[in-house]
Amino acid sequence: MGDSSPLLRPVLCVVGARPNYMKMAPLMRALTATGRVPPVVLVHTGQHYDLEMNDRIFVDLQLAAPDVNLGVGSGTHAAQTAEIMARFEPVMDAYRPSCVVVVGDVNSTFACSLVASKKQTPIVHVEAGLRSFDRTMPEEINRVLTDQIADLLYITERSAHANLLREGIAEERIHFAGNLMIDSLRLHLPRAVSPTQTLSEAGFAESFIRHAHGFGVVTLHRPANVDEPDALAALLSTLRELSRMLPLVCPLHPRTRDNIERFGLAAVVDGAGIALLPPQGYLQMLGLMGAATVVLTDSGGIQEETTALGVPCLTLREYTERPITIEQGTNTLVGHDRDRILQLVEQILLDGGKRGRVPELWDGHAAGRIADHLAVWLEHNRLKAMA
Ligand code: UD1
Repeated sequence: MGDSSPLLRPVLCVVGARPNYMKMAPLMRALTATGRVPPVVLVHTGQHYDLEMNDRIFVDLQLAAPDVNLGVGSGTHAAQTAEIMARFEPVMDAYRPSCVVVVGDVNSTFACSLVASKKQTPIVHVEAGLRSFDRTMPEEINRVLTDQIADLLYITERSAHANLLREGIAEERIHFAGNLMIDSLRLHLPRAVSPTQTLSEAGFAESFIRHAHGFGVVTLHRPANVDEPDALAALLSTLRELSRMLPLVCPLHPRTRDNIERFGLAAVVDGAGIALLPPQGYLQMLGLMGAATVVLTDSGGIQEETTALGVPCLTLREYTERPITIEQGTNTLVGHDRDRILQLVEQILLDGGKRGRVPELWDGHAAGRIADHLAVWLEHNRLKAMA
């Protein structure tokens, strides 16, 4: 598989979990389209593996099946990270890539970066430099450590530049390229599935969302929100109150679904105006978010997608690593504050809520910019290696 000629050594692109796919799909297409980079190989760690969390989204994004699947599955953070590393190392040995491209901040991102760094293979981190400054978040540790060992760091917003400089990253490694997530959003929005179809496929009547105020969309999966019985119970009871004002559509992450069951909290949401759905495909989520009156979430990507769509977003966290969605977009941080959540939703129902604008370079062309820049960088490395 590997070739000793630096020209032919492939670019290894790594994905592991759902939010990675929307970023990698446009990038892989753009890399191939340049005709100026070595072959692109897709490695899936298998961190996410369910049909709904994985396969369906690959199809929606028209992402080709991975060339390699490490099949690691779930585990504690340490076990999962260690397993990814152990299984990724022989893949590195087999392909001897010219670089490893990682996206975002999931365990797979850091695990594969660390292996690449031990093999002295250049690491390209896309969506670098975002910081929540909350080190209790596993993703924050993944971001800080990946950025420390990355050779090339593409950023989505200018705040990331300052964060990276503060952490001692050399300026010439940092490139402002825009947001790949928004490339996918713009490309696929015309194919979004209507909310009524999504609801009816999940067994809910169309009338569920035919409400004077429309409907809200809720997603919850952060450990801080769903792994603690008291925190989850409080959030669900706020949602129950909210659902008296407007119906809520809530696609459930498996972690959240299991915890609602495990903590005996199903009764809190039963019979309320809340439609609990299985995890949805990408086109279904675009349709739901695009038509929502408000989105409540603890996801990172959804804060960006709602800003791009101009839909008000209430983020159920104390901090965000994506401050531009607050400064320029439609996002507001609400933590767990029940009164603030109810009051802000009331305001949104009255006047549509916070207006925003789409941030700089979130224009649907980030992948092309990264691919062009990376092609030149790889060629430069190749010439250096041959000199
Ligand atoms: C991971 C990422 C998080 C990202 C999220 C998107 C880390 C540290 N976290 O969190 O940043 O926002 O993905 O979903 O990498 N499970 C399934 N089927 C699957 C995958 C997971 O049932 O296909 C269940 C398992 O019970 C598993 C749990 O979800 O234990 C958590 O999965 P895991 O990959 O550890 O983290 P996420 O919470 O999904």
